[in-house]
Order: sequence, then structure tokens, then C-alpha cells
Amino acid sequence: MSAEKERDMLCFFINGKKVTEKNADPETMLLSFLREKLRLTGTKSGCGGGGCGACTVMVSRYQPATKTIMHFSANACLLPLCSLQGAAVTTVEGVGSTKSRIHPVQERIAKAHGSQCGFCTPGMVMSMYTLLRNKPQPSMEDITQHLAGNLCRCTGYRPIIDGCRTFCQEENCCQANGAGDCCLNGDKNDDEAEREKPRLFNKEEFLPLDPTQELIFPPELILMSESASPQSLTFQGERMRWVSPSSLQELLQLKTRNPAAPLVMGNTNIGPDIKFKGTVHPLIISPTRVMELFEVTQTPQGVWVGAGCSLSELQSLLEKLLLQSPQEKTELFRALIQQLGNLGSQQIRNVASLGGNIMSAFPNSDLNPVLAAGSCRVSVISNGGRREVPLDQNFFVSFGKTILKPEEILLSVFIPFSRKGEFVRAFRQAPRKESSFSTVTTGMRVFFSEGSRVVQDVSIYYGGMGPTTVSASKTCQAIISRRWDEETLSRAYDVLLEELVLPPSAPGGKVEFRRALTLSFLFKFNLEVLQRLRDMNVITDEVPEKMQPLPKEIQPSLQEFQHVSKSQSEQDPVGRPMMHRSALSQATGEAVYCDDIPTTDGELFLALVTSSRAKARITGLDVSEALQLPGVVDVITVKDIPGKKVREMCGYEEELLAESEVSCVGQLLCAVLADTRAHARRGAAAVKVGYEDLPEPIFTTEEAIEKSSFYEPLRSIERGNVTEAFKTVDQIHEGEFRMGGQEHFYMETQSMLVVPVGEETEFNVYVSSQYLSFTQDAIAETLGIPSNRVTCHIKRIGGAFGGKVFKTAILACITSVAAWKTNRAVRCVLERGEDMLITGGRHPVLAKYKAGFMQDGRIMAVDIQYFMNAGNAVDESILVVEKILLHFDNAYNFPNLRGRAAACRTNLPSNTAFRGFGVPQALMVLENMINDVAMALRRPADQIREMNMYEGPSITHYKFAFSPENLRRCWQECKEKCEFSARRNAAQEFNLQHRWRKRGMAIVPVKFGVAFAESFLNQAAALVHIYKDGSVLVSHGGTEMGQGLHTKMQQVASRELHIPASKIYISETSTNTVPNTSPSGASYGTDANGMAVKDACQILYQRLEPIRKKNPKGSWESWVMAAFLDKISLSVTGFYRGPDLYMDWEKMEGQPYAYFTFGVCCCEVELDCLTGDYRTVRTDIVADIGKSVNPSMDIGQGLGLFTLEELKFSPAGLLYTRGPSQYKIPGVCDVPLHFNVYLLSNSDNPHAIYSSKGIGEPVLFLGSTAFFAIKDAVSAARSDSGLFGPFSLNSPATPERICLACNSPLTQKIPASKPGSFTPWALNI
Ligand SMILES: Cc1cc2nc3c(=O)[nH]c(=O)nc-3n(C[C@H](O)[C@H](O)[C@H](O)COP(=O)(O)OP(=O)(O)OC[C@H]3O[C@@H](n4cnc5c(N)ncnc54)[C@H](O)[C@@H]3O)c2cc1C
Ligand code: FES
Ligand code: FES
Repeated sequence: MSAEKERDMLCFFINGKKVTEKNADPETMLLSFLREKLRLTGTKSGCGGGGCGACTVMVSRYQPATKTIMHFSANACLLPLCSLQGAAVTTVEGVGSTKSRIHPVQERIAKAHGSQCGFCTPGMVMSMYTLLRNKPQPSMEDITQHLAGNLCRCTGYRPIIDGCRTFCQEENCCQANGAGDCCLNGDKNDDEAEREKPRLFNKEEFLPLDPTQELIFPPELILMSESASPQSLTFQGERMRWVSPSSLQELLQLKTRNPAAPLVMGNTNIGPDIKFKGTVHPLIISPTRVMELFEVTQTPQGVWVGAGCSLSELQSLLEKLLLQSPQEKTELFRALIQQLGNLGSQQIRNVASLGGNIMSAFPNSDLNPVLAAGSCRVSVISNGGRREVPLDQNFFVSFGKTILKPEEILLSVFIPFSRKGEFVRAFRQAPRKESSFSTVTTGMRVFFSEGSRVVQDVSIYYGGMGPTTVSASKTCQAIISRRWDEETLSRAYDVLLEELVLPPSAPGGKVEFRRALTLSFLFKFNLEVLQRLRDMNVITDEVPEKMQPLPKEIQPSLQEFQHVSKSQSEQDPVGRPMMHRSALSQATGEAVYCDDIPTTDGELFLALVTSSRAKARITGLDVSEALQLPGVVDVITVKDIPGKKVREMCGYEEELLAESEVSCVGQLLCAVLADTRAHARRGAAAVKVGYEDLPEPIFTTEEAIEKSSFYEPLRSIERGNVTEAFKTVDQIHEGEFRMGGQEHFYMETQSMLVVPVGEETEFNVYVSSQYLSFTQDAIAETLGIPSNRVTCHIKRIGGAFGGKVFKTAILACITSVAAWKTNRAVRCVLERGEDMLITGGRHPVLAKYKAGFMQDGRIMAVDIQYFMNAGNAVDESILVVEKILLHFDNAYNFPNLRGRAAACRTNLPSNTAFRGFGVPQALMVLENMINDVAMALRRPADQIREMNMYEGPSITHYKFAFSPENLRRCWQECKEKCEFSARRNAAQEFNLQHRWRKRGMAIVPVKFGVAFAESFLNQAAALVHIYKDGSVLVSHGGTEMGQGLHTKMQQVASRELHIPASKIYISETSTNTVPNTSPSGASYGTDANGMAVKDACQILYQRLEPIRKKNPKGSWESWVMAAFLDKISLSVTGFYRGPDLYMDWEKMEGQPYAYFTFGVCCCEVELDCLTGDYRTVRTDIVADIGKSVNPSMDIGQGLGLFTLEELKFSPAGLLYTRGPSQYKIPGVCDVPLHFNVYLLSNSDNPHAIYSSKGIGEPVLFLGSTAFFAIKDAVSAARSDSGLFGPFSLNSPATPERICLACNSPLTQKIPASKPGSFTPWALNI
């Protein structure tokens, strides 16, 4: 029998080349095969679970039945190697290369500045490339849909969309150039001045898309498919066997004999289960070649769809039927299409099957409630025969279980046509609009007999309201046979409320919100049904409000910046929007990141074992079982560390590996070394740790305050006399604000490779760190060797945002111990889940504030207390505390101001540096306080902000003198550019017209201090070599992590050496070229390193002066050669001794910053008050960044922090949100529909290179404007409910918080659970 066959040869193609694999392991996914076996490292791994799109590839298959070739994008991380028989795979390397021909997609994303750290870029390229293969002139909607499953943490998507937009048919106009206006809108672009404006890129220079240039489908595969004699295929791995039967008969026999074996179709459920839950299936059945599973049959009653059809195929089929059938027959089809459009990502829908979705029986499946409400049924088959089973409430038995018997196979699904008088709708609400599982999802159907409003039949199903898809049958009973009117519906809401109850500690949390959503959806359904009945002249009632979807058309972005002066040489790139120097390598997948470095002989992989307890004594560590496993070589424990076993910070010690006690879940305990990643991870899972829990772990900030669990010192600062001032003010307002933490979610997880050189304890360390010298010193101390034996290198980092400093050094120390002990190269690359668990993030903050103000809006006294949840180690928390207090005045001149801040010690993983370093938290609290003052005075918040803003020569609360002139200019310009007054009036008008849809606007300033308050960090060095051929190699101490630092350094060197940038190369950052580096952070990288590069280049240029004078007409190359022959050194070290900054906390005064960067942002949102969903309609930013070195700057991604990203911890301190499925960073769907950025003109900055200003961190806070715009919209909704004045809305403003804050009559129906009477599912840390 075929199942007993030993193993077959797997045959498929990659990038036009045939691949045959005798030992295909069912556990191997295409991603690891590409990266580890074929060394095609362009395809990246960002999550391993289908949630980020970094691994996107194109799969092409020949369909013998239709003789067509099908191309679809897929996530290589979930694509089993064994499933690829007969397929042609295209990876980013197969699309184009800098050596031969760059593909237009690669070129356009790169040249439109859509690739910063570049880690997401190959995935973006592949999604877009696949779309173009299927549709060479896509619409904007196609583009946003196809990119919805591709996450980018750096660019904010705007430039990526701008680049991709140039392929749109409707784009044959100027608007894609970053200039904003479209020539189709009139003759505006004929205007000379308009055309003269500098642009970020020039689409005229783009290569045309030429489909004839693409790789052809391998003829051999066509022949293979046409002539294949059907026979089963078998592959055998280490632990699992894969059998792919070729006929239904064979499939049934296999399943009868192996009822527990799963059927793997798209592998989007089974795959993550194996990977993340460690499930082992001795046998996997892959029925993708069983034709009956893909059959589609239309009948007069509806359509039978094969269970094996992918969700994309189902969508296309339904769309086709929509066109062929009268509207009244396709109600259910349209509801399904709507759900399918938002289900998962394009990559997921392309592989996930209809049968798989049904059989996975996820409680929040988007299809099952609609299929059930739509009276669908399924046909199942087993050796015992066929039967039909209705898809109703009895079908879904429990979490992940249906009533089908284990040996039964779902053959097809019947989707009926709707009848006249039947309406079907689907609604869903998810944490992110796209590529996100629903919080609650529903399918609703009602049937009226002709011309009547009396309900003949009704069916309502919900997902997300329990362990299964649930039927609201009692609610249906309350509706059936009654008139569809206010009275019936109002009773239905009450019944629904009683029927769908969630316990207060229900898994998934959000209990009140989920219950509110059930009502909201029914309410929306009601409005739609009423509208339809009215349209059909069955009723004449006025429909309260027509439900429209939120707007979603993304418009071309606008960026305005100043031309460089006319006198500037053409070859001088400073001030011009030069493309990221590696963007093309990144877009072609050639760019090398740490884990792309080829493995060395005998290399080992290191996997970490972490604590599963928050506070416990370690009673035992049993590694014996792990050591028995295949491939496992050794286990590293604290006893193996030859040198220092701890890292010190601010007077506190942090153990590298816990020895006797653990103080958080995720603390590092030991590390397993093995020959492969899979073996190391299996080994780590087999280590047994004994614990004895210790009492009273502290998790929340409140608990820490109650127990005075703080890291010392606590800081405070005061200006004026706050206590006295409160006695003289007209009004006092007190409040509390909580801002959640944030995960860095750099796309490249923590990665390192330590290679022993083999003599004199010398090590080469390749590490994705933004502070190489710190890592170098830490490794040297851990190994007890001098720093000169450790050389740290990094070429580029796939994003860092502050998260690749402290924990990276600790991980590198452990990896180095392993390399030292085994004398072999050791690689450690964290999985996304491990990374999120271990490395901490932004500090959550709880703040209490008090504002004293006058009736006219002047705020005379402010008192704020900040408490940060710092976690189990101090890390950089004290420095964050200080930065909070140095910024909490933001842009305002409060005469009396007091701030106190403390870092709370808790039993959570320690938090660390994060872009903004506490400033976003500090400013959020303050701006929220100002909003409260405005609400208390019933005045617009912008008036209160403007009235209290610094003006004229100013001095901060720490006695730092500065001019706020440019801050004021940004404010005025922003108000003008965004037409603030007119739009606010329009928003108010809109709000009067709409009860359930509200618009909100906000304008918020930022003042951000640049440079390190720790003065010694304000230094930098550079090493510049000129080679005999005239090429120049620049090294400096900063790291390239997407911010374009290397590009800017290239620009600096080009200007100073008076040569084109193309002659300058930057290979890497390394501690043997530039020692004692400072971290790349504090928005100071360009300022410090730029000055060092400038210094070195100026010295070199001076050295060449005599030679230039001798031969003024000579070329650069001739001067360089002459200098060499004249024995002039062509290598120079440059150095920059930055400003001597300080802060005296005793005296509460200092000069901790070199200067301030200013910015102002205005944002408008539209809110769906029934679901908390919103869309950013327009964003305008005016930023003062001096004279920009490179105006293709980085703005975006601030949005996520304030509106989306939410960390959730269990009551035992375990982080639940350990991947993109649970933790949502912004996606393409979150881009503002209009996004305009203006760089303030005529701004100078004497304190930084070429009058520029640091920009990296300051703009982040501007994302908070979306939060305050949402709050404004919520306030409008509340006033319709008769609620006025300050109200609480914590950050991030998630749909849950927004919906509940709107306090509509529907949410008011939900009884609040009594705090303290239950254990919530998640902690409020
Ligand atoms: C990143 C991501 C995002 C997602 N987002 C959403 C979302 O927003 N909404 C949503 O509803 N879902 C979502 N999903 C879930 C996804 O839709 C399901 O995992 C998918 O439909 C399952 O189909 P599959 O073919 O991949 O199943 P597989 O993983 O191949 O199999 C799943 C299960 O179904 C069984 N099975 C499959 N076919 C049959 C059959 N014919 N007969 C009997 N048993 C069968 C298998 O035995 C197995 O137990 C998401 C998944 C991922 C990974
Ligand atoms: S790595 Fe495959 S989707 Fe993230
Ligand atoms: S450029 Fe997209 S993640 Fe960095």
C-alpha cells in the first residue's frame, strides 16, 4: 500500500531551476529550505506564523483541466516543502538583481524611499510582483489589499504605496511623484511654480513594466502534470510522515486507518499548531491532489463548492456568480465576499481552504457564522458512505471541534441562493482593520414574505462570543413571526444581552466590548434591513441613519521641502532626497543581515530556556533529557560563565542567566546548543526546571506603588511654587492617565553569530546591535578577556528602535560563552515569540495629574506624578525617568510646574530604551491634561494649547534658554496648511448630521531635546580611507538600522571630498575600525557621526590640496594616485567632541540637550461609534528639522503606539501577545487617507551638521494627534448621549476603549463587572 512506501523524490522549481529533494521532511517549511539549504536568504523570517509577510514568495501551478497557469502569493513560513510537488516558486532573487536586471517593482519601491531597514522589502516586492503577474495595471484597492498582509515597522507605508501606485492605470498623471495634486484635477500642474517644486522621486526615470521579461513557467512541470500517472507520494521526516494520496478512494482508506491524522490543505492552522504548540503528528495526509475536493457544481438552489478550494478561489467564484445572477439571489454570496475581503491576508487566503476554515472551528472564524446563518450545509464522506450535515449550532461542538467523526472528510459545502425578501449581512470588528482575527464577527439573515415586514425566518450567529460559533437562537425566537420594527428590535436587544453572556474572566478579555459589539451589529443590521424594506416600498418609516463603510481610498501623499540653493553643485547630494544607499540591494534580497551570513563549518545553534514563573526559587535544572535528543551538543548554564556573571546598570545588577531565583516569566535560565535550529529548540523544550513559587509577585504599577517597590533614585523637579499657585487659580482639575507599553517589533528579531578565531581567545561577533562597543565590552567582561580580543561587526540592522542595546548585549554574552566553551561558531536568532517574551519594550506609565487654571484658559500650575512599570531589572529605566521629567513641559510655559517620576520594580520582563525614551509617555499625560482643561472650560483644545505655548525668548523648567520661534511658526503653518478652522467647522457640521458616525480633529505640538544628557556619549569617531583607484571607504561608529545613517554619511563625505556619492562606500560598522562608539540613538546619530566623518574628510581634502594646486585640471583619481606616490597618507581618523551637556538634579537645572526639534501635527479621524472603528482621514505635519540632510525622511508609525498596540499579560505575568497574530502594529490599512508633510523652510540650527536637526524620535509623538482627534470625536458622540466635560480614555485608543467611551445607549445596556469580584483574563499593568 502506498502509505507504507518508503519515500518519494520531491520535484519542483525555484526561480526557474529544478530542485529535487530525496529527504523532504514534512516539518520543513519552504522558508527554512530556501534560507538554510539553498542559501536564498532574500526571503526573510519575521514571525514564522503567517502574520508579517516578510517571507512572501510567489507560487505558480499548472492546472491541467483548464490548461492555465495560476500565480499566487504565499507565506513561505507556512508552506510545507512537501506540498510543493510540481510547483514553480519565485523568490525575490528570481524577480530581479542588481547584477543583471532590477525589476520595476524593486526599483519603484526603492526609489520611492519605501525601503528603510529593508527587512520587509523582499516580502513587499513579492506581494506586489504577484499582483502584477496577475494584473499588470492594478487599482489602488488591489494594491492595498495585496499589501495588507505585509508589515513594515519603519516607513509608515506611505512611500511604499507611493512607489506601488505608479503601476496603477489611473496613475498616468503627475500625482505619484510626491507632489500631491493630480493633473486630472484641472490645470493646476501647468503652473510653473508647482512643477518647479522639488520632488522625492521622478517617475519618468522608472523602468516600464514589461510582462514578457518574466520567468516562464517551466515546460517540464507542464509535461509532468499532463502525463503524471496518479500515484500517492510519501515523504518521511525525523518525526513525521507525509502522504499525499492521488484519489478519493485512497484518501478514504488512509483516513479510515489513521483517523487521528490531520488533513493538511493550506497548513495555516496545522502549521502554527506544530510550530508554536509543539504538536507532533506521526502522519500527515495531504489531499491536495484529490480532484473531488475542488469540484464546483451549480444547482438551481445554489452552489456546491469543494472543501479544498482556497478562500481566494471561493471569493473569485462568488464574485463571478454575483455577475451572473440577479441581486436578490446573491445576498449570502455578498455577505461572504465581504467577510473574505477582510479575512487574514491575501497570502493566507491564497492557501487556506474553505474546508480547513470550517473544520478548524475557530471560535472567531469569519466564515462559519455567515455560512451557518445562511443555512449552508456540508457533504461529508468516509468509507461508510456520504451524508449531508447542516452547518448549524449543532455542528460546532467545542473549541476546534465539529460533530464530524474523526474518519470523516468534508467533501464540499453547499451555499444556497437567497430568496426574494431575504437579507443576509456580515459584520466583523477586529483589533486592526485588515489581516487580523476578529474580536467579534457575525452572520445575520432575515426573511420576509413578499410585501410584508413580518419576519418569516431569521438566523443570527456570532463568532468570538465563546469557545464556538454560537447561535443567538433565543433572540431569533423573539423576532420571528413579528413585525420588524422598533418594538421587536428593542426586545431583541434585551434577549440578546441575556442570551450571550460572557463570564468576566472569559479568555480573550474585552468582555464588555464583545457584548457591546453583539448589540451594535444587530443595530447595524436593523438599520440596513429598514433601509432595504424602505427601498422596496414595504415600509415608509424614516431610517435613522444610513450605514456607510468608513472611507478608505488612500490619496497620493504630499511632501513639501525646500530646494537646495541654486549655487550648490550638482554632484553635492546634501539636502537632496537621495535614495537609501542600500535600497536596491534590500529590494532584490541581496542585502545581508546578521542571519543571512552563511553558516561556518561546525556551527551550532543556540536556543534559550526561559522561566515559566514570575517569582520563584529554582529547585532544579534537569538537562539530561535534552542532552539525549538528536543533534543536541551541550547546555550552557551560569556555571559555564568564565568571567562576570552579571551586567550592572545604575547601581543594580542583572544576571545573565538566573542562578537560584527567577523574577519574571521569560527570564533567561540556560541555553541549549545543537547542530540545527530545530534540534536546539526541541532540546530547549526538553529541559526540566523545578520551581518553588515565592509569595506576592508584583505585576501592576498600582501594586508596586502600594508596596513602595521602586528603583532608586526617584526624581523630581519643580519650577515656581506649585502649592501656592493652586491656591490662586480659578479652577483645579485632577485626573489619572494610563499609557500602555509597546513592543519594539523590529522586523529582524535579535540575531547574533559568534565565531571563535581559534587563537588567543579572539572572537569575531556579528550582532544586530545598535551599540556595538557596549556589546563588545560586555562580552569581554563575561569571558574575562580584554576588549581587544572581541571584534563586533554589523552591516545593517532590520530595525531596532532602542530594543537592540541592553538585552542584545546579554544575549551576545551568553552566545559568546557557548562559542568559548565549545570552540565552535554559535548562532542565536530569536523566534518572534521568544523575542517578545524576553526583551521587554516601552515602559507603561500610570500618571496622576493636577492642573490649576484661570477662566480664560491660562494654566498656572501643573503637578504630575509619573510611575513607570520598569520590570524585574533596572536596565535604562532611571534614564527614562529623567528624560520624562526633562520633557513634560512639552511646548508650554507653565509658570508653576512640578513633576515627580519613579521606576517601579515589578515581576515582569524588564523594559528598556524605546524610540522617544519616555518622552511620548510624558507628553501624552500632559496633553491629555490640557485636553481635560479645555473640556472643563468647554473650549477647543487648540486654543488652550496656543494660549499656553512658549513665546519669545524662553526658559525651560530646568533653566535652559531657547527660542520657541520655530515652534510657533510650525504651529501657525500647520493651522494654515491644514485649513484648521474651516475643517473643524465642517467636522462639527458632519457631527450634527450623524448620530453613529463622528469626526474629530486635533492639533498637537512637540518640542524634543536632541543629544544625550549623559555628556560622554556625545562623541563620535570615523575612519576614512581613500584607495589608490580613488574609491573611498567610510567607517563610523553609528549603526545603519533603517534610519539612513550610512546614506547621510555618504552625503557628508561626498560634499567634503567634492566627489560623487557613488565613489563612497560604507561596508559595515565594526569595533576594530572605530572603537568606543556611542549608541545609535537619542536622534543624535547623524549629528555626531556626521561631524566625525566631516572632520576626517576635511583633513583628507586638505592633505590633497598641494596636489590639487599642482594639477588643478586633474581628476580626483589622478590626485589620489599622485598623493600615494608622494607618500601622503590617505587614511584619516575623524573625531567629534560633542557639547558638554549636563543635568544637576539637586539644583534642578542644567543643559541636557544641544537643541530642540519642533513639530506640529493636525489630524482628522472619522469614527464608527458603534464599533470603535476609525479611519485617519487626513494628517498634516509641519516639522522643523533645520536644513534637512536628506528630505526623504522617516515619518509614520507613531500611530500604532497611541491607537493600536496593546500588550497583554496573564494574571501569572505571562505575556500573551507574542506575535503579530496577537499584537497588532499598524498595517497598510492604517495609513492616513491624506498625508501631507511640510518641512519648515528657512530654519537654521548652528548646533548640528549643515544646520540640520535630529528627527528620529521627535516626530514619533506626533502620532498622538490621532489619539486626540479620536478623543474629540468620542466627545462629540458623548454629547449626543448628554455627557459633557472631561472623561477618561487611556492610550492606546483601541476600538474597545473608543466604543465604551462613546457611552452610547447600546453600551449603557452592558452591566459592568464588579472589580475585585473576579480574576480578569489580562492584567492592567
Ligand atoms: C495569519 C493568519 C490569519 C488568519 N486570519 C483569519 C481571519 O481573519 N479570519 C478567519 O476566519 N480565519 C483566519 N485565519 C484562519 C484560517 O482561515 C484557517 O487557518 C484556514 O482557513 C484553515 O484552512 P487550511 O486549509 O489552512 O487548514 P489546515 O491547517 O490545512 O487544516 C486545518 C484543520 O482542518 C482539517 N481539515 C482541512 N480540510 C479538511 C477536510 N476537507 N475535511 C476534514 N478536515 C479537514 C485538518 O485536518 C486540520 O485539522 C488566519 C490564519 C492565519 C495563519
Ligand atoms: S515570517 Fe512568514 S509571515 Fe512572518
Ligand atoms: S523598511 Fe519595512 S520594516 Fe524596515
